[in-house]
Amino acid sequence: MNDETPRPTDQTAPADQPGAAADQPVEDRVNNRSQKPTSDAFKRFMGSNWAPAEIRQDLPDASAPFAARRRKALSEQFEGERLVIPAGALKVRSNDTDYRFRAHSAFAHLTGLGVDHEPDATLVLEPVDHGAGDHGGHHEATLYFRPMAGRDSEEFYSNARTGEFWIGTRPTLGGLQARTGIRTADLSGLEVAVTKNAGAVEIGGVRIRLLRGSDLDVEALVDTSRINTGVDLEVSDGLDAQLTEFLSELRLVKDGWEIEELRGSVAATIAGFEDIVRVLPAARGHERGERIVEGAFFSRARLEGNDLGYDTIAASGNNATVLHWIRNNGEVRSGDLILVDAGVEADSLYTADITRTLPVDGTFSPVQRTIYQAVLDSADAAFAAVKPGLRFRDIHTTAMQVLAERLHEWGLLPVSVDEALSPEGQQHRRWMPHGTSHHLGLDVHDCAQAKRELYLDAEIVPGMVFTIEPGLYFKNEDLAVPEEYRGIGVRIEDDVYVTDEGAENLSAALPRTPDDVEAWMARLLG
Ligand code: GLY
Ligand code: MN
Ligand code: MN
Repeated sequence: MNDETPRPTDQTAPADQPGAAADQPVEDRVNNRSQKPTSDAFKRFMGSNWAPAEIRQDLPDASAPFAARRRKALSEQFEGERLVIPAGALKVRSNDTDYRFRAHSAFAHLTGLGVDHEPDATLVLEPVDHGAGDHGGHHEATLYFRPMAGRDSEEFYSNARTGEFWIGTRPTLGGLQARTGIRTADLSGLEVAVTKNAGAVEIGGVRIRLLRGSDLDVEALVDTSRINTGVDLEVSDGLDAQLTEFLSELRLVKDGWEIEELRGSVAATIAGFEDIVRVLPAARGHERGERIVEGAFFSRARLEGNDLGYDTIAASGNNATVLHWIRNNGEVRSGDLILVDAGVEADSLYTADITRTLPVDGTFSPVQRTIYQAVLDSADAAFAAVKPGLRFRDIHTTAMQVLAERLHEWGLLPVSVDEALSPEGQQHRRWMPHGTSHHLGLDVHDCAQAKRELYLDAEIVPGMVFTIEPGLYFKNEDLAVPEEYRGIGVRIEDDVYVTDEGAENLSAALPRTPDDVEAWMARLLG
């Protein structure tokens, strides 16, 4: 794509054109790859004779009432304080091309907005009198963003990052307000909105709390305001961290809308696993067969969702013992197992996180089946334990008990089961080095900033969604295990929804037992 149009800041003629400035700053040279007309005649012509933009009647998003309740909970927690939650900015991938935009999960949670929404936007919760805010809360929320420019504007045709001519339609102020139920305002008003009356509370200023790590420009704005008003930066860092923590904890229990989104992500992910089985014959024997598997899943993710929730692990043979194998450039060999850990992220940005370990030829060998069954038994024991009131950390304890016993039966543990399971031992972790469960939602590792007592040490409650994902990994180079075990890695990962009675396996429709996996593969491969 050649950007042939002028940009407002781009008045310097390219160096290979007559009149080029020899001392053109390097930061301007990004535009030198093409010629850009700058004449007034061109601007007049480009700015005229476009049909008016279609007037869309935007309706409220299904997420809007749920997001309103989340903002109310946030308001309850931080009465009297200004809360600033940026969506984040576009990120350069290479020179002047950007990654596809993906908003910070806290912003998505509080606005209900998903795919494409909305680079540079910031949600500001402005404190008002007690109970006088939105929905009876103590704040008024405003979404500051850059609305789509009119077709008579220079931005329309000249801005390759935001102009409709280049990237397609974007929301208007009225449209986004109708969809979210949040008042909207032009991004140009953000600086005043964030900084007005800000300052030390002791002298009557308004305290700002910022979600850090999302948008460096907004961080600079807040930090500058704090410095200018004599607010202690170290203390402010602590206050900001409390906001981050609370926003993470606010997602520990999912509402009905989130559960439906997760069900959709899981369904698309299961379809992606079916696609994987169908391409296994093509992957087998190809020098980069793992990429064929990865590509098949990615097609499904883009077709049914927004993207992958995380980079797919397509790990065949010994690569399955490399926990974060995302290089996916290995062969898929006949007789091996292939471990695939993949999740479709929905347009709402909720993601599934599922792992299946499949026999490349459709049939497990006896030793593969033995190892697989141990992992399955461990997962099933964890599932059976899950019910409201169980401590989150005890899911892992339950899964490890089964694996340690099995490793002991196989003669692999150098100590007793009890000694291995004691804090001083942990020898079984050589072959199962990761956690068994993590929360799942907008982030694959959701709620990661929650306090330990609300996560690992907490009792699970209805509405929580997390994974159960034990594994066993025997590396080729592991001389502590018999040769026949080496080069085998197995993980089985499912997504669990805690209900009043116990747990629902959201991904139960994807076969898990060795017999069911074989039958399912046989059916798909005809
Ligand atoms: N796919 C990352 C995980 O399972 O945690
Ligand atoms: Mn996981
Ligand atoms: Mn996973």
